[in-house]
Order: sequence, then structure tokens, then C-alpha cells
Amino acid sequence: MSQASQNPLEIVIVGHVDHGKSTLVGRLFFETGSMPEGKVEAIEAMCKRRGVPFEWAFLMDALRAERDQNITIDTSHIWFKTAKRPYVIIDAPGHREFLKNMITGAASASAALLLIAADEGVQEQSRRHGYMLSLLGIRQVAVVVNKMDLVDFSEKRFQEIETEYRKFLKEIGLEPLVFVPISARGGENIVEPSKSLGWFDGPTVVQVLDSFAPPVASSETALRFPVQDVYRFDHRRIIAGRIETGTLKVGDEIVFYPTGRSSKVASIEGWGSQGVSEAIPGGSVGITLEDQLFVERGHVALKKGDRAPGLARRVTANVFWLGKRPLKIGSVLKVKLATQEHSCRVAEITGVLDASTLEVRQGVDFLERDDVATVVLETDRPLVVDLQADFVSTGRFVLVDGYDVSGGGIVVGFEEKSVQVTAEVLNPETRWGILGQKGLIVELKGTDVARNTVERLLLESGIRASASTNEHAAALRDAGVVALIRGPAELSFDLSEVGALDVVTAIRLAARISQEPAH
Ligand code: GTP
Ligand code: MG
Repeated sequence: MSQASQNPLEIVIVGHVDHGKSTLVGRLFFETGSMPEGKVEAIEAMCKRRGVPFEWAFLMDALRAERDQNITIDTSHIWFKTAKRPYVIIDAPGHREFLKNMITGAASASAALLLIAADEGVQEQSRRHGYMLSLLGIRQVAVVVNKMDLVDFSEKRFQEIETEYRKFLKEIGLEPLVFVPISARGGENIVEPSKSLGWFDGPTVVQVLDSFAPPVASSETALRFPVQDVYRFDHRRIIAGRIETGTLKVGDEIVFYPTGRSSKVASIEGWGSQGVSEAIPGGSVGITLEDQLFVERGHVALKKGDRAPGLARRVTANVFWLGKRPLKIGSVLKVKLATQEHSCRVAEITGVLDASTLEVRQGVDFLERDDVATVVLETDRPLVVDLQADFVSTGRFVLVDGYDVSGGGIVVGFEEKSVQVTAEVLNPETRWGILGQKGLIVELKGTDVARNTVERLLLESGIRASASTNEHAAALRDAGVVALIRGPAELSFDLSEVGALDVVTAIRLAARISQEPAH
């Protein structure tokens, strides 16, 4: 058996609350012989003592609690094996947690089971989750219609649900591989075909799992090596990170973005005492270079000649907002993409979507919790970025509001900015272009309090600004700063007549570098 076929296939199970996700996972675990000896009996006895009905979900909770002692095991991941291969099922407690895990890379499902209870049928979360899967690029989806025992194993009811849900999934571009009727609690059609479902001639749940294709080996694509940290060790500088895609060998010429500087790999340090000659996807490694380059956390390495990522300050993304506060045009947040962390501003919001009803609201300037929308983000510094369809690790990001992960998104477009490495002396215009902001000299008439307010608001909105004396203003401007002086200057505002916010808006516009692509 090859190495790759030993890696567990990661599958996420999603569906409306109480439709039976944990029960199905418990059953799968049990029926595939993964349950520790005597465990079911112990929980049954415990339920009897307490006078509560036995639940497979309790059993899974009990197993998790035991595993929690071992902090390396994530509570929502359940491992089991079929005759064909091993699996990890991610039983997502709620769609927010699931989304957070998916966009932070904590989970990386390559296939999904969408579960719908036959008695309640298609519900809000059934639709929402379907949409999230399509947004996250999970294309291998099977729909499991559970609790068939509650509808007398009715073929008609099963077909009603299939027709309704298929139609919805089609609208969002998802085509499920199959619809399967089951009873998770009764163990019907999990491993063995069910007699009660004699009219159904499709696969069991385990057969569905075994029919999912494994993820494509990502070593076939270009290298993406986001730098986690740079350590000094003896006299060497070790660049540490995780190989997200591609491979890396000693002697390879690699290029770092956003600097565009390149060098050859001198060594690859393993965690053991010896170095290794090649690193493969998923591996955390430390490397040393033949030349001294400025490299820091957030930089991304690729091989010379590899398809290059974008360097972008304007990124178009499909964003799902999970924050308690609404996300507004003009909101300033932190974007975390691979190991990069930049401040960003919401520049545009187009077509806010209710993922359950698929209703699109146009001309909306804020997102509420659970909304999905296409959003244009402007970052303070260029982001090294790929389209999510090409590279997952550098094509998805998390949005942080204060200290909370409040949303996430996948990159669907960006405006390029090519890396130029030159030895020329920089003039103010090139400097402003790199910083993404023009320097200006602005006269502000008014009280100290009003002037300080403007300065603070500018800084908070991501504009570099500073109060200045007249004689230092030109140097600040050339360095890419908005110099606020008492005057006189070409751009002038009287704060006793114009509100601070209006002044800030006007200055922001004036300091903005044109985003029109140069044709
Ligand atoms: P959340 O994690 O809270 O979203 O729920 P869940 O989707 O994990 O559902 P869970 O497995 O906890 O099941 C909810 C209830 O449905 C429990 O009381 C189960 O016993 C019951 N249930 C699950 N599967 C079946 C089934 O096939 N038939 C019947 N009749 N009940 C079921
Ligand atoms: Mg559950």
C-alpha cells in the first residue's frame, strides 16, 4: 500500500441542529469496530441508572472527554477505519465553529456529508451549510436523509426531500454525488443495506465514504512556503515554516515575496539531529540559505520559475461574517492570510446574500452576523495572495476584529502589483506607490483639540499622518506622510467651519493612490 493511501480522508458532517450528526458518527464508529470493548455497555448501564434513554451522542461525548486528557487530540475529530482506508470525521458543533476551523486551516475536509432529518426535512441550516460548502470549494458532497424510521421508511418522503434539496444545491452550484436514506439510531443502511429500505438500491453510508476521491497530491503544484519565523542558531539563520504545497530540495533557487529576493537553499533542517534533503507538503521545516537575505514572518517563498502569487493591496473576496458587530464599509480590521497579518479596510460591499434563502440585497453598506457577501478589502501593505481556486493556503484568510476571529473569506480576485527589484534611488512617487499612500501637506485651522482629533482619526483609518512644523512638512510629505501644519498650504481646512470627519474623508481621498489599473 502506498504512503498516500494511509493518510486519513478528512470528511466533515454538517446539518441542521438535532438532525442526527453525532448519532451517525457514533454509529459509524461502532459499526466499523472502532469502539473500545465494553464502552457501549458501560454507557447503556449509566443511562439506565439515570433513567435517560441511551444516546449515541453521549457515547461520543464520553469518548471525547477521555481523549481530552491528551491535549493533542482535537475534540471534534473522530478517527475510524473501513476495510478500504482510514477516515477523520469532523463533527462540527455549529456552523460558526466549523467555518472558523475551515478558514483557519484547523480542518481541511475534502468531502462532506450533509445530513437532513426525514421528519423535519430541509431546514435553514441545511441550506446555509450547503452554501458554505460550495463557498469553501468542497465539491464532493453526499446527502444523507436520516431518521427514516420516523416517516415509516417512506420512499415518497425521501424523494420529496431529494427533489427540494437538489434544486437548492443546484442554484448554488453544488451537485451531490448521491442521496442516501438511513436511520442512524437504528443503524439502518450504515454498513449493511437495510431491509426496511428495501426499495433503495443505492449505496450505504460506508460505501459512499469509500467512493470519495482522495485529495490530489499537492506536491504536483508550485511551492508555497509561508515563513513562520526566523531563528538565529549558532551563526546561521533558520527560516521556519510549513510547506503548504510543492516540494523543496537543497540547491533549489527560491524567491521570497513580497521582496522578490532570491537565494539557493543551503540546508533543510529536520527536527532530529540530521538534516534532510527534501521537504514535502504538510511538513514543518527550517531551512538555511546560501545568501543573507532580509526574510521575516509573513513572507512567502516559491521556486524560481514557479507560478507567482499576486502582490495586492486590493483583494476581492467572498466573505462570511460571524462577528457580533456588523461589518461596515470603512470598517478597519486585521486580515490574517497564511502567516501574514495586515490591517485592512472594507472598501466595497457588493450583493449581500442570505445563505439560507439565497436572497440577495443590493446597495447594502454593512454585513450582519451570518451574512455572506462579496467584499473588496484594501490592505495597508501588499498581501502575497493567490486565488483560492488555485492555492487554498494563500487563498483564504481570517478577519480579526479586535481580538476575535470574526469572519473569513476566500480570495476570488485581486489587483496585481508586480515586484520590482532595482537599485535605483527612490523618489517620492515610487515611495508612495510602495506604501500605497501619497504624502501631502495640509493646513488645518482650528483649536488644538480639533486638530488632534483629525490626526487621530486619520491614523485610525490607516493613513500615516503627523502634526508638523512648517519647515519639516516637505520631508514628511516626501516620506509618504500627511503633514498637518498651521499653514499656509495648497490643501486647507478650517475646523471651525468643517467637521473633523469630513476633513478626514477629504484628506483620505487626496492621499489615495489611484487604483485604476494602468493599461
Ligand atoms: P447537534 O449536535 O445538537 O446539532 O445535534 P446532532 O445533529 O448531532 O443530533 P444528535 O445526533 O444529537 O441527535 C439528535 C436526536 O435525534 C437524538 O435524540 C437522537 O437520538 C435522535 N436521532 C438521531 N438519529 C435518529 C434516527 O435515525 N431516528 C430517530 N428516531 N431518532 C434519531
Ligand atoms: Mg451533535
